Amino acid sequence: VAAEKGNYRHFMQKEIFDQPDVIGRTASHYVDPVANVIRTIEGVDLSETDRLLIVACGTAAFAGQVARYWFAELAGLACEVEIASEFRYRAPTFLKGDRALFISQSGETADTLEAMRLCAEHRVPSMALINTVHSTMAREADLVLPTLAGPEIGVASTKAFTCQLTALACLAALAGRQRGRIGAAREREIVEALLGMPARVSKALDCEAEIVKLAPELAEHRTVLYLGRGPDFPMALEAALKLKEISYIHAEGYAAGELKHGPIALVEEGVPVIVLAPSGPQFEKTRSSIQQVRSRGARVTGITDASGAQALQGELSQAIVIPDSDPLIRPILEAVAVQLIAYHVAVYKGTDVDQPRNLAKSVTVE
Ligand code: G6P
Repeated sequence: VAAEKGNYRHFMQKEIFDQPDVIGRTASHYVDPVANVIRTIEGVDLSETDRLLIVACGTAAFAGQVARYWFAELAGLACEVEIASEFRYRAPTFLKGDRALFISQSGETADTLEAMRLCAEHRVPSMALINTVHSTMAREADLVLPTLAGPEIGVASTKAFTCQLTALACLAALAGRQRGRIGAAREREIVEALLGMPARVSKALDCEAEIVKLAPELAEHRTVLYLGRGPDFPMALEAALKLKEISYIHAEGYAAGELKHGPIALVEEGVPVIVLAPSGPQFEKTRSSIQQVRSRGARVTGITDASGAQALQGELSQAIVIPDSDPLIRPILEAVAVQLIAYHVAVYKGTDVDQPRNLAKSVTVE
């Protein structure tokens, strides 16, 4: 097994650094690089779909939450994202134009599988976005959409997540085309951004040096707050989950706009707050959240792009700068930064990165 890690110390580290490659592979599966369009997928026509039900657990559910913003923005498609264990037990309502999408790295997570069976009983057509193509979900779904992340060994999901985002961006753009909501020019932009992702993700990995400096400080704290707006809200949730899972530091992800409805009470001198603060239409609002926590003594790290970092000069204790990209798929780049933060804090603390206590790679019993 040691050999498979190559020169890496942990599988998780290897899987983080695999991302340029596997994101490229996943993008190539869904994109036609000659015509610069998203490929048509047999059996996927979302033009008449009234509602997309996305059901998943853990990190896969956060990928679904990010995608919800994309389906709305690109395709005007109503979308509900449900945690499988809640969905299957809460007497969900099904509507006539529903279509279900299940997301799973393993294809074996018990709750997600049972949620899929429940949808089948109600004759809701199901698609499954799956990394392990020889899995129960892949067998039972009406239609399989693969992620091409390759085997993921580290318990905390990394490359499967960014490949899920890549495939979901393609699916949202495809839905946008089918529903007449995006034109050829926008589709081409998205395709180019996706094809440029491997290079940008490689560059995003360069923020590791900055993160290595941050890790010892975070490791001393009992709690870390992540904030973000729009798709960066579920990214904040995913960031907090990663940190909890492998470094055992309590972390919360919050929608920045909810700061005043509770979490600001936690902020006192020295509390680490990590803000997903890329430039864009919501930037000024996010900046005011930064000022609010900073004025109460928080130590604020910003995950941002070059122009965001410039605008925030003097307002952050530290900036982690990710490359510029089409704002739509920026969460893929942010994911790299939040993975590296969790990884380096865990390494600094000496926890078992690939086999964190109490967690299983695949939760096949309830
Ligand atoms: C476990 C893993 C997570 C994963 C979740 C869902 O909790 O530790 O990394 O996100 O299961 O797994 P799935 O295989 O369905 O994506």
